[in-house]
Amino acid sequence: MNKVLVVMVGPQASGKSTWVANNAPGARVLSPDALLQTPEGYRWSEPRVKEAWARCHVAFRAILHAPEGATGLVVWDAMNLDRARRTELLAPAQRAGWTVIGIAMLTPLEVCLARNEARPPDRRLTPSIIIDAQRRMTLPTTAEGFNLIQRIRLP
Ligand SMILES: Nc1ncnc2c1ncn2[C@@H]1O[C@H](COP(=O)(O)OP(=O)(O)OP(=O)(O)O)[C@@H](O)[C@H]1O
Ligand SMILES: [Mg+2]
Repeated sequence: MNKVLVVMVGPQASGKSTWVANNAPGARVLSPDALLQTPEGYRWSEPRVKEAWARCHVAFRAILHAPEGATGLVVWDAMNLDRARRTELLAPAQRAGWTVIGIAMLTPLEVCLARNEARPPDRRLTPSIIIDAQRRMTLPTTAEGFNLIQRIRLP
């Protein structure tokens, strides 16, 4: 695949990272969340999240503006729940001539909550956080600039 950006959309524990691992082998994955993992476990804090996003954006810009010409399949593995957040990712990719695909995880809330409960303690969230994320999520649309949108609903 050449110059294809995949933007994941979905609340916590909806299966985004698992879907990426299974369906985008060889992709460059930009995952702020993955940068919060340390040898001592998952360490979440607002400054660390901010830093992780900044580092992913630096890597993203480097890919888009590579002097030899950007190529490949790149995945943004983050919740990207609303249009404003998604536009920050789409707009520079489109300006650089990339095709942008949205993958919307339509995993039912009760499945997300059950998967969250099954996670290790340092990755387990208070259920209300996931309920709120699912409430805030808007589905990606072609009007936002996506070339293609795939809705994923797995049990
Ligand atoms: N299709 C599936 N069938 C069964 N279990 C799954 C499936 N997809 C994901 N899971 C499990 O659900 C949990 C959450 O999945 P995953 O980490 O991929 O979610 P996520 O959307 O990336 O969450 P986060 O936003 O917190 O990173 C994991 O324990 C994973 O093993
Ligand atoms: Mg994930």
